[in-house]
Amino acid sequence: MNKYPFQQAPWWKLGTIYQIYPYSFSDTTGNGMGDLEGIIKRLDYLNDGTPDSLGVDAIWLSPFYPSPKADFGYDVSDYLDVDPELGSLETFDRLVDEAHRRGIRVIIDFVPNHTSEEHTWFKESHSSLDNPRRDWYIWRDPTPDGGPPNNWGSHFGGSAWEWDESTGQYYFHQFLKEQPDLNWRNPEVVWAMKDVLIFWLERGVDGFRMDVVGMIYKHPEMPDQPLDPNAPDDLRPNDIYGRQLHIYDQDQDEVYEMVREFNQLVRPYGEICLIGEILYFGADRWLRYYGTEGDGFHLPMQLQFMHLPWEADTIKSAVQEIESLLPAHAWPSCVLGNHDEVRLATRYGQEYTRLAAMLQLTVRGTPILYYGDEIGLENGVIDDDKIQDPWGIIVGPEFNRDCCRTPMQWDAGPQAGFSTSVPWLPISADAGERNVANQDGDQFSLLNFYRSLIWHRRGSEALRNSTLEILEGPPGCLVFERQVDAERAWIALNFNGNEVEIPFSGEGEIILSTHNQDIINLSTGSLTIEAYEGVIVSCR
Ligand code: NOJ
Repeated sequence: MNKYPFQQAPWWKLGTIYQIYPYSFSDTTGNGMGDLEGIIKRLDYLNDGTPDSLGVDAIWLSPFYPSPKADFGYDVSDYLDVDPELGSLETFDRLVDEAHRRGIRVIIDFVPNHTSEEHTWFKESHSSLDNPRRDWYIWRDPTPDGGPPNNWGSHFGGSAWEWDESTGQYYFHQFLKEQPDLNWRNPEVVWAMKDVLIFWLERGVDGFRMDVVGMIYKHPEMPDQPLDPNAPDDLRPNDIYGRQLHIYDQDQDEVYEMVREFNQLVRPYGEICLIGEILYFGADRWLRYYGTEGDGFHLPMQLQFMHLPWEADTIKSAVQEIESLLPAHAWPSCVLGNHDEVRLATRYGQEYTRLAAMLQLTVRGTPILYYGDEIGLENGVIDDDKIQDPWGIIVGPEFNRDCCRTPMQWDAGPQAGFSTSVPWLPISADAGERNVANQDGDQFSLLNFYRSLIWHRRGSEALRNSTLEILEGPPGCLVFERQVDAERAWIALNFNGNEVEIPFSGEGEIILSTHNQDIINLSTGSLTIEAYEGVIVSCR
């Protein structure tokens, strides 16, 4: 069924997804924090049906649920509502309608591993040993000496166990103590969480991005985890998590079974896209999340690119690994930025942003872009005493994620057009220069380059839905071909700081270059491309 304009089935395979961190996108209430109305206001920027807009096919919204914001939305206190600071269910419904009217699908974050300590489920569970919801969370007696039940560390530093004086037990939290883990071994929890999915499906969402979903089941006996012999020596003293091998706290067999159940549950609702946030511990664990013949995640996110050195050979090996391992029914994705990682432009340098964009939008798989990367937003500068991210506060400033969540820079006006008051995180110093309005008016800007790339991709079956073959190329270059039926695209990316000559055979024309706007005809011979240049050649 093809409900919306522009789309062919399955949309999640062909389309470009754009992640919005709602707190930082656009503020319409003047409280310094982004909101859903702000997203509605910016939908035309994302896709108004013309190449003057970005042209994305879907948005993924990081959490907008009621939350005390100990982990900025990933501590949900009510799965069935919208945080009043961000809007209401009515605003959400309007957002879905307005997005759909423009052919934009809406994917929402689903946080299944833990709730906020403020969720009524936890309040009840916490209230007494015999509360009917006691077993909705993971409670254990202390060891005989009063210590925590095992050696597991919290992702955000220290032990994963919090002592509760009033009921004389510990509860388990893989993240903050304000984020207690749900007990997915209790069928009532499974039912309640499936009801959450149904609630949003009935409201018309087109998919879910499932937060740290590999962690929802723990080994039933929760044995001590072994130390990781390869852990770096310089970890912070409280980084227990970083020192351990995570063999009992994630990717248990039951998780894969539950993903199959999620897949079954969403099927009656049409082309729903299930994206899994899978932490990368080797391809064998991650590949399993596709299930068999499409009964798992549609897109277990390929996050590994962000952790690789930005070198042609390493990136080539990662692409090759995906190409060689994925079974026919599995479709890759490519993520180069998100709300947990160093900004793309900071990680690679501004000189590489176009090359990175070309890589992300031409390799086989669904590109998942992060808001602001299209204008080259860099990591914000946050003084250590101003850090808000709990990871940065508890473990160390090197983990601070505020830097990649600074407000979107819309124009050169006050607060970069993001808000009318002081934003929750500081606007970056370059906002007067680096903003949407400036780049909109400059045909050579990064923003306009992203637009061209995305719209080219939209019109090209070879770029969206075809095979990928890596070709021989000079050192420091990644050269590959995408082909479907008679349509063939040849892509060359030069990671070197100098120009290179690349052999080319056949006939074609350069339809897009990171550096040049001319359409250049090519025939067998070689092509010289500049330092950090990438080209897409449409072959005849
Ligand atoms: C992964 C999310 O991406 C991150 O932002 C969050 O802090 C943790 N999960 C805990 O929910």
